[in-house]
Amino acid sequence: MSKKILLRDDEMPTSWYNVCPDIPNGLQPPLDPETMQPMGPEKLSAIFPMGLLEQEMSGERHIPIPDEVMEIYRIWRPAPLVRARNLEKALGTKAKIFFKNEGVSPVGSHKPNSAVPQAYYNMKEGVKRLATETGAGQWGSALSMATSMFGLKCKVYMVRVSYNQKPYRKSIMQTFGAEIVPSPSNFTNYGRSVLEKDPDSNGSLGIAISEALEDAVTTEDTNYALGSVLNHVVLHQSIIGLEARKQMEIAGEYPDVVVGCCGGGSNFAGLAVPFVPDFLEGRKIKFVGVEPASCPTMTAGRLAYDSGDTAGMTPLLHMHTLGHDFMPPGIHAGGLRYHGMAPIVSALIRENIVTPMNVHQMECFEAGILFAKTEGIIPAPETCHAVRGAIIEATRDLNEPKTILFNFSGHGLIDMAAYDSYFAGELHNYSLPREEIAASLANLPKVG
Ligand SMILES: Cc1ncc(COP(=O)(O)O)c(C=O)c1O
Repeated sequence: MSKKILLRDDEMPTSWYNVCPDIPNGLQPPLDPETMQPMGPEKLSAIFPMGLLEQEMSGERHIPIPDEVMEIYRIWRPAPLVRARNLEKALGTKAKIFFKNEGVSPVGSHKPNSAVPQAYYNMKEGVKRLATETGAGQWGSALSMATSMFGLKCKVYMVRVSYNQKPYRKSIMQTFGAEIVPSPSNFTNYGRSVLEKDPDSNGSLGIAISEALEDAVTTEDTNYALGSVLNHVVLHQSIIGLEARKQMEIAGEYPDVVVGCCGGGSNFAGLAVPFVPDFLEGRKIKFVGVEPASCPTMTAGRLAYDSGDTAGMTPLLHMHTLGHDFMPPGIHAGGLRYHGMAPIVSALIRENIVTPMNVHQMECFEAGILFAKTEGIIPAPETCHAVRGAIIEATRDLNEPKTILFNFSGHGLIDMAAYDSYFAGELHNYSLPREEIAASLANLPKVG
């Protein structure tokens, strides 16, 4: 059997799959933080184009991918599905391990799958500029690329700890013509208020989202773009699982276990959701979402209404959360340091369809290094969590011949500073103390 399974350009799916109408007991609606009533598209149209808001609230299962988006997807899609035979051998497992390689995109991760349609729908509705946040820099790079392709300007608020750790992410965004500032910044009222209290603040995704939102609300012709969490982002990422389904079929296989790392949940859900209808029809599939023990949103957070940002500007989303003013420790997997989880993933956990797992960063780097040595590709620190999750599943019982499919969400070639820290012995495991979680959960918005 071949090492990798490729699809031709004309075999790429032409519609995204929307799992929302298939989730048992459905999703809770977003709430307006001012009235605590369900929030319709009218108010959100101040920061999002209608094209995306329609997708956010859609009850349609299949939504066609516009031709202009297909054309850009074809630069790197369909992405390869690869059998990790050398990893299997090194583990001594009878399990078959497949990974979907999203690291082949121009910026090295799955993020352009949503950045491209987001830039496209904004361009179509006459928006001239997008403001966004980025944690690890992957989303900022993806949106910078996508906006440059559709002739939009882009401003990226990059979490300060990553801004300092990842200079080449800035270079990539600059190459695509974006403006990048470390967050918290002096450019927004909210950023200034955070810096006043803590001039050395490391920043967080929650703070950077507040800054980008303030920018979008107060600047003409500017909209806001979010790289994860929301339903329309998961919709766009479903291209990963739709392709993988076809490729597994060509390989003559079907996954018993589907694994992905979870920051806001978009790459994991993107791979997983196209398999959910089979699960609902009785097929036995284990869906495993892997998060860091230092930011255990799914395994120690609460399913509740909470803000997506620190300042409390976003609609309240019904999601697993550690509390919107949670300050994650500065671990290297910057893209996994978010207090909330996609409402879709949260609802799938509620329905016992998704099993969450948390892992420590040292075992993740060990897994990433084993993967690099056996399969030749260095995973992004976030992706190391998925590799670790796949290894845990493949080694539970070495004699069980199950099939594992995991999402290789990105390569780590621009994240070598994190590997340097690992090799220098500077990284340690960190479990978030229960008291800290309880303290930030005490500040959840009071609903109902
Ligand atoms: C390579 C990579 N994988 C995973 C993630 C986590 O995001 P999500 O859970 O939305 O896929 C990120 C976020 O920045 C990332 O850069």
